[in-house]
Amino acid sequence: MIVTIDGPAGAGKSTVAKMLAGRLGFEFLDTGAMYRTVALELLRRGGMGQAASLGHWIEDLEMVFEPGKAWLRGEEVTREIRSPEVTALVSTVAEHGLVRGRLVVIQKGYGQGRSLVTEGRDQGTAVFPFAFCKFFLIADVNERAMRRFRELEKQGGTVNLNELAQQIAERDRRDATREIGPMIAAKDAIVIDSTGLSIVQVVDTLEKQVNLRGTPTS
Ligand code: DC
Repeated sequence: MIVTIDGPAGAGKSTVAKMLAGRLGFEFLDTGAMYRTVALELLRRGGMGQAASLGHWIEDLEMVFEPGKAWLRGEEVTREIRSPEVTALVSTVAEHGLVRGRLVVIQKGYGQGRSLVTEGRDQGTAVFPFAFCKFFLIADVNERAMRRFRELEKQGGTVNLNELAQQIAERDRRDATREIGPMIAAKDAIVIDSTGLSIVQVVDTLEKQVNLRGTPTS
């Protein structure tokens, strides 16, 4: 049984998906971490200037994912994939058809025979169109920037709030307008606006919706 949570950057998808998975007794899949891992590999190969080389190595790139953890060529990169350099590159990498092709196959594989809460941009549309329950989580861009600002502050970073809001809006624009697997709410997704809501309030709402659907027949 699959529950999908899609939506823009910083809407709280990861935290909400993890908590919902815990409550339902499901596994949790963070698909953004996969795109970030590919972006890190490209960064190590020289960055955007080397994007044309992606086709030569993406199919064989060794990546392993576990809930909340990522490995690239055997090295744990869980923290590194959250760096500002990777974040700046990732939505451009995610536009690449070969990257999406490989990662969608991996994601579908995770869904085989598992109960999963999966979060990303295209989970309810391209990857799991027949998911049991689909959500599209949104929040005001300024609130999303503020949440991210607080997170970065906690990690000791210094960032400008306005710049952060602009970066988030630009990433949303790129994610929503790409040709393959754009960020869009599935027609049968429930749209939840988390602006002004606590994480627990959002998870309560989602859990209620999942339970309202009863037991899946397949
Ligand atoms: O959720 P995140 O910020 O970790 O995602 C990083 C990037 O990956 C984001 O710019 C969009 C892209 N992404 C995607 O295109 N499709 C997904 N299913 C998940 C993430």
